[in-house]
This record gives sequence, C-alpha cells and structure tokens, in this order.
Amino acid sequence: MAFALITGGSGGIGLCLARELASRKHDILLVARSAEKLANLCSELRKEFNIRAEFLPVDLSTPDAHLSVKSWLNKNSFEVDMLINNAGYGVWSPVEKASLAELTNMMNLNMNTLVSLCYMLLPELKKQPKSFILNVASTAAYQAVPTLATYAASKSFVVLFTRGLRMELKKSTVSVSCLSPGATSTGFVDRAGMDSLKERAEKFSMKPEAVAKIGIAGMLKGKAEIIPGFINWLSVNLTYFGPKNITEKVAEGLYKTN
Ligand SMILES: NC(=O)c1ccc[n+]([C@@H]2O[C@H](COP(=O)([O-])OP(=O)(O)OC[C@H]3O[C@@H](n4cnc5c(N)ncnc54)[C@H](OP(=O)(O)O)[C@@H]3O)[C@@H](O)[C@H]2O)c1
Repeated sequence: MAFALITGGSGGIGLCLARELASRKHDILLVARSAEKLANLCSELRKEFNIRAEFLPVDLSTPDAHLSVKSWLNKNSFEVDMLINNAGYGVWSPVEKASLAELTNMMNLNMNTLVSLCYMLLPELKKQPKSFILNVASTAAYQAVPTLATYAASKSFVVLFTRGLRMELKKSTVSVSCLSPGATSTGFVDRAGMDSLKERAEKFSMKPEAVAKIGIAGMLKGKAEIIPGFINWLSVNLTYFGPKNITEKVAEGLYKTN
C-alpha cells in the first residue's frame, strides 16, 4: 500500500492528522525537524495501529528540502498516494520590527516548500488510482492581519494556490483540498511568540484531534476548502461580505502586540 506523507508530523495538527490516518489503517511517512519525536511517534503508530510508519528528519524551510525528501522516497521505494503539507508557523510582529531572515524562513516553509512538494510528487500521485493533496492554510488567510501580515499573506497564497491546482487537476485522479483551521491548541502560539495572547486564544481554540478528524474526512470527500468549527466557518464567510477596512480593524484589535 502507498503511504500518506505528512509534513510537520512531529506535533500539533500534523501529529493528529497522522493518528487519524493511521487509525484508518493508512501507512504513514512523517517529515519534520525533531528526529526523536518522530522516531517515538512512528514506533507508537506501528504498535497501536499495526501499520508501516517511517520518518525523515529535515528542515523544510531550506531551499533544497524537497530534494532530500525525494531522494529518501526513491532510496526506500516509498510510494505516496496522499501528500499533506501541514508544516508551517507564524511570526507575530509588525513587519518592520521582525527579523527579515525569520520572515523569509517562514515564507520558504509556508509557501515555497509546499509548492515544491506538490510539484515534485504530482507525477507519482497521478499514477495512483486515487490520490489526495491536503494543504494546510488558516482562517488568517481570508483577511489582512496587522502584526501577522506576512503569515496571513502566506496562508492566502496557500488557499489560492490550492484552489488553482485543484482546478488544473479536476480531470485527474488527484483530489486537491485546503484545510483552514482557526485557533487550535498546539505549539503554534509558542513558536509565533504570542505569549500574551495565549490565555485568550485557549478560550476559542479547537482541539487538534477535532481539526484533524474534520480535515481528513473533508479531504476524503474531495472538498475544496475545509474550515473546521462553526465559529471559524462564520468568521471566514463574514469576511466576504464585510468591508475590508472593518475586518482589518477587527483583526488589528484581536492581534495587537501591546
Ligand atoms: N494552531 C493554530 O492555531 C493554527 C491555526 C491555523 C493554521 N495553523 C497551521 O497549522 C499547521 C500546523 O501547525 P500547528 O498548529 O500544529 O503548530 P505546531 O504545533 O507548532 O506544529 C508545527 C509542525 O511543523 C513542523 N515544523 C515547523 N518548522 C519546520 C521546519 N522548518 N521544517 C520541518 N518541519 C517544521 C514542527 O516540527 P519540528 O519542530 O519537529 O520541525 C511541527 O511538527 C501550520 O501550517 C499552521 O500554520 C495552525
């Protein structure tokens, strides 16, 4: 059986996506930086679900990361029928106060590597009788977000890239979907440096297990965009009707850095 390749599978939503697919008896490939966490998780998945689970520790924000993934797949003759581009993070800061190197690193991970992995795996995915791409964006993708300007824009890119690719592949065997979670209790807030928002974020956060369950069900149904949770769905849909200056003011209030 072919594998599901999940980026950012060492924690948070990615780990739950892996568990959700493993519980459906799908074999799993995990890619992230933390070798020890990946090794432990793979051995848990093997024992608990009696599936094949393998991992590659790699920093996916580097320009040639997708080539390392490809040579690992080739070397081990791993076939892939699901590509889940989940690895990503945010930088919470006004643009002018952020480190440019950090913003660039984030954009490489959130956008460039996601596109490279889709591009590189497409020929193989098209050979499978049925295959899936699930790209993880965010509810932040649907309006500009001051203090998360680059992150929100990178996730808008993910939504539009995914929808475009989906249309290009509509006559193929590859189903392409986008998962846009809202606040979810994971390591995201810590990595983004959003300490002062943590308490408030937790009140509105979904559990990553719930996000993953909805995400995988939506992917398997072939949905274009999956927005887990009614409040998240409502907030995204309100942005289509609300004037931009109002939605941006609301976002500014929610994500103030001081
Ligand atoms: N949590 C939220 O509130 C939220 C909301 C909307 C969207 N999202 C999106 O959901 C996705 C998953 O985030 P999460 O909430 O689960 O965050 P998380 O708990 O911080 O997990 C992020 C995952 O990405 C991996 N990762 C980070 N940098 C990497 C790199 N340079 N190379 C390879 N792997 C890397 C991490 O593993 P290592 O550290 O081991 O590399 C980890 O497995 C992201 O795309 C995020 O933007 C999250």
